[in-house]
Amino acid sequence: MKILIVGSGGREHALAWKCAQSPRVAEVLVAPGNGGTATEPGVRNLPIAADDIDGLVDCAREEGIGLTIVGPEGPLVAGIVDAFEAAGLRCFGPRQAAARLEGSKAFAKDFMVRHGIPTARHRTFTDLDAALTYLNAVGAPIVVKADGLAAGKGVVVADDLAGAETAVRDMLAGNRFGSAGATVVIEERLTGTEVSFIALVDGANILPLASSQDHKARDDGGRGPNTGGMGAFSPSPLVTPDLERRIMDEIMRPTVAGLAADGLRYVGFLYAGLMIADDGTPTVLEYNCRLGDPETQPILMRLESDLTGLIAAAAEGRLDVVRPQWSEQASVSIVLAAGGYPGAYDTGVPVRGIARMESPGIKVFHAGTRLDNETLLSAGGRVVCVTAVGPELADARAKAYEAILHVQMNGGFYRHDIGKQ
Ligand code: AMP
Ligand code: GLY
Repeated sequence: MKILIVGSGGREHALAWKCAQSPRVAEVLVAPGNGGTATEPGVRNLPIAADDIDGLVDCAREEGIGLTIVGPEGPLVAGIVDAFEAAGLRCFGPRQAAARLEGSKAFAKDFMVRHGIPTARHRTFTDLDAALTYLNAVGAPIVVKADGLAAGKGVVVADDLAGAETAVRDMLAGNRFGSAGATVVIEERLTGTEVSFIALVDGANILPLASSQDHKARDDGGRGPNTGGMGAFSPSPLVTPDLERRIMDEIMRPTVAGLAADGLRYVGFLYAGLMIADDGTPTVLEYNCRLGDPETQPILMRLESDLTGLIAAAAEGRLDVVRPQWSEQASVSIVLAAGGYPGAYDTGVPVRGIARMESPGIKVFHAGTRLDNETLLSAGGRVVCVTAVGPELADARAKAYEAILHVQMNGGFYRHDIGKQ
């Protein structure tokens, strides 16, 4: 079988790398891919953008693709699965109507309230004056979210009222995120530790993947602006069997049952971004209708089973009879980012030293890179994810930090506390 992976980040490199190892897979195509997927054995890049749904459908037909796996949320929210299905092609992920769980935060909040799924108290606004009046009544700290997709930049966790007001004005009056910001969700700020709970869902059955946590803030100690994720690790020591049971009972099962009850049968990866309070209570911060990036990198490093077999089981409603094998080892993935990220940054900066560092238990997943002839150049904010496994989290962390020293990139930076909680 030939597989098509849609996307160009570290998550997609990890998916391509993992799928290429499957004995059932003849070739993996990645659209558009990056400098890492360009040279990964058994993998080939296609020059088609991840949001060019018509182009992807045509290519899947011409190339005889047996299964398409979608990495990022954009194409899912835009209806790529519906388009592939209409063309008689198998594409793994939720249909457009169910992907609204990520595509509209207001929709997700209404859904959670309707189905009794724990989430921060909130109100939704389209009118600036009403939003400002509400902010003044509730005070800070408070969280302001653009309703639609905003590439991870649409959430402002405000310590004071002035910051919250600026965020609301930017979105509702300043057109900061275009139509994605024409509706805002204002919600209570939760405290605790964040966990990424990611599962395969086949419409009814839920198969949790290995647990993971990511580090969203740019700087050591969780300081600085929010990013797409500066690193991740698996497993999360926080997710004990007891907590996993609670998450399944209180969040995942009610979510999948609620979707089905609303006529939105959910097939695909479902990612609940959770805040675990100090007393162990899980609350949903957000849903994503896809795998996490960079969580996928340490998770797939630990998966011993054939990923394509698990995805086939999910697509065919057989998740109740599969049992994936996970390595007992821990895994840590450190993101090397371009200077300036998550703000403006240069691209086209040479990235050196990667070829020398791969060894057993270490893998460099590329994110924002491209090959220019033989030269590897940066092409995005998150450039590579250096991933290592080891017997314990501390071993994996030490190995990953030793390896990342070999990567040379002008202005490149990384956090020094990935995998420390
Ligand atoms: P979201 O895209 O909704 O997950 O928000 C992005 C990030 O903002 C989350 O990963 C949290 O770090 C933070 N965040 C979102 N909602 C809240 C909340 N209600 N309380 C505290 N932090 C939040
Ligand atoms: N690492 C966060 C996300 O994928 O949304």
